[in-house]
Amino acid sequence: MQTRKINDFPEGFLWGASSAAFQCEGAAHEDGKGLSVMDVRKIDPSICNFDVASDHYHRYKEDIALMKEMGLKAYRFSIAWTRIFPNGNGEVNQKGVDFYNDLINELIRADIVPIVTIYHFEYPQSLIEQYGGWLDRRSIDDYVNYAEFLFKTYGDRVKYWLTINEQDHVVHMPFRLGLSNDDRQEKEKLGYLANHNMCVAAAKAIKKCHEIVKDGKIGPATCFTMMYPTTNDPSDMLAWMDAMEIRNYYLLDLNCKGEYNPVFRRYLEDRNMMPEIHEGDMELMKENRPDLLAFNYYYSESVSKFPLDDEHKIGDIEFKLLPSREAGIYQVVKNENLKATLWGWEIDDIGLQCSARLLWERYHLPLLITENGFGNKEEWPEDGIIEDEDRIDYLKRHIHNVKEAMNLGVEFIGFCAWSFMDLISGHSGFSKRYGFVYVNRDEHDLKDLARRKKRSFYWYKETIANNGKDI
Ligand code: BG6
Repeated sequence: MQTRKINDFPEGFLWGASSAAFQCEGAAHEDGKGLSVMDVRKIDPSICNFDVASDHYHRYKEDIALMKEMGLKAYRFSIAWTRIFPNGNGEVNQKGVDFYNDLINELIRADIVPIVTIYHFEYPQSLIEQYGGWLDRRSIDDYVNYAEFLFKTYGDRVKYWLTINEQDHVVHMPFRLGLSNDDRQEKEKLGYLANHNMCVAAAKAIKKCHEIVKDGKIGPATCFTMMYPTTNDPSDMLAWMDAMEIRNYYLLDLNCKGEYNPVFRRYLEDRNMMPEIHEGDMELMKENRPDLLAFNYYYSESVSKFPLDDEHKIGDIEFKLLPSREAGIYQVVKNENLKATLWGWEIDDIGLQCSARLLWERYHLPLLITENGFGNKEEWPEDGIIEDEDRIDYLKRHIHNVKEAMNLGVEFIGFCAWSFMDLISGHSGFSKRYGFVYVNRDEHDLKDLARRKKRSFYWYKETIANNGKDI
């Protein structure tokens, strides 16, 4: 529906930007930090490793000064688990603790609200070696112990906490669980076991946060991919309904309602993938609901039916980045109505509004966008600055849809663009840039890592200053 009058954003709306430790900090082997799965994974040699990244570890003061100049109200970042506990458990690394104390204090001095992700992909490698990581229930206690330490150490200043970033991606990407990326289909079962353990761990962390952090708010940071049925063929509608349950809602139903929804349960049972549920697990999830629902939104997908036949049996899955077709359920197909980024991500601002409305309707929790942004190849020109009009247009349209959703009653805490500065893309290295601030380095040539403001920096600054009035 197009509303007649678009109200302004409320006072106190958190205009923010995001990052993740392994993608921006660098200093991967400094000051006692232990290895994470992101440090040891095998990557395509044409893509840079995470050793230096954007060198935020050494330049955080300069970066926060830029955030202040921009007028940013919130900065969402993650803590590298292995800076605090190099082995994931056991001894604490004081230098790591000090780094985040300094970072948080600097943000507060700049009037920027810190929003902290407890775990963003970089699982401690040592826990994989000790007992197999998330596949073992001991992982629950180690995560909760780490989270408790963070609440006690930083909870006097940090009031917004995110339990796990994109758990749904961890489930489907074996390397994030410390496994090889071969036989991904086989590893789906392990992914769902890890998923269950992560859900139990997150519920326990929510409980601790509520006990320890005065006025603390905590929730998951999921990746929500809006989906559409491709045609009005009722079988496509069915494919869409099933895909939404098993690809989007399955995790949030566990996190926010403490339930394996019936479609997802049936899906797991048919494929012999249902994890063992221990006594008290579901009650724990039910009793410790999040206070907010954070989500990352980049693109949408269209789905159509994908019937079983002689070649395609139940359990057959094909993958791109994530599962792209599952026999007997759905397949992702190109949406002819949408343009895509250079990486084929279909750009769909209305999909953000649809996602927000569906999430609000199903969970009734205040929403926080923790990631939304436009990845592009960019080079700093000899004269002038980067005129990233595509990024500005992308963000403007997506923010407009946040506003539209709010007009229809959806509650939003804020919007954090991905990303504040250029950082290493999860899959495409430094050649895919998202930042408002350019970082002067290439894939392998570190150059001087200088920070330079792109056109979008000035646009977001103005947008924040007028509280999104012109959006
Ligand atoms: C999300 C992640 O999946 O999307 C980020 O939380 C990631 O870590 C972002 O960088 C964009 O993905 P990519 O592959 O373009 O870096």
